[in-house]
Amino acid sequence: MRVLVIHGPNLNLLGEREPAVYGTATLEEIDRALRELAEHLGVEVGCVQHNGEGEIIETLHGARGVYDAIVLNPGAYAHYSHAIADAIAAIGIPTIEVHLSNTAAREAFRHHSVTARACRGIIAGFGGASYLLALRALAENLAR
Ligand code: DQA
Repeated sequence: MRVLVIHGPNLNLLGEREPAVYGTATLEEIDRALRELAEHLGVEVGCVQHNGEGEIIETLHGARGVYDAIVLNPGAYAHYSHAIADAIAAIGIPTIEVHLSNTAAREAFRHHSVTARACRGIIAGFGGASYLLALRALAENLAR
């Protein structure tokens, strides 16, 4: 199984960005943990980060025929990007949405995810481990 992890906008600043909300782990550390877990689970993982909505959409399109599953943290695009939701639906690759923070416990505008409608499920609130839990769910075929 080949899994593509897409980190959305501002996640390149993890470690220094609002550590009280997002923790102190850097994106590099999260990706390293993902690669270690992937090896343990016997799956292949690729990790990318994009700040732009269009770049995320291009990457989703490019995943067709290359990846079997996607883990996506859309960042704030989760709350308003119907274009990303449509792209996930269009490519038909099982996708799990993740968030480091518990978006339901934060500002009202973060309570709703428009991208979630196109995803198999959401994991939120576990910091960098949200990504690891998503990878485990995929490896266990829970997102089929
Ligand atoms: C986030 C939650 C979003 O509301 C926020 O805009 C982010 C990060 C998270 O991982 O907790 O950029 O996706």
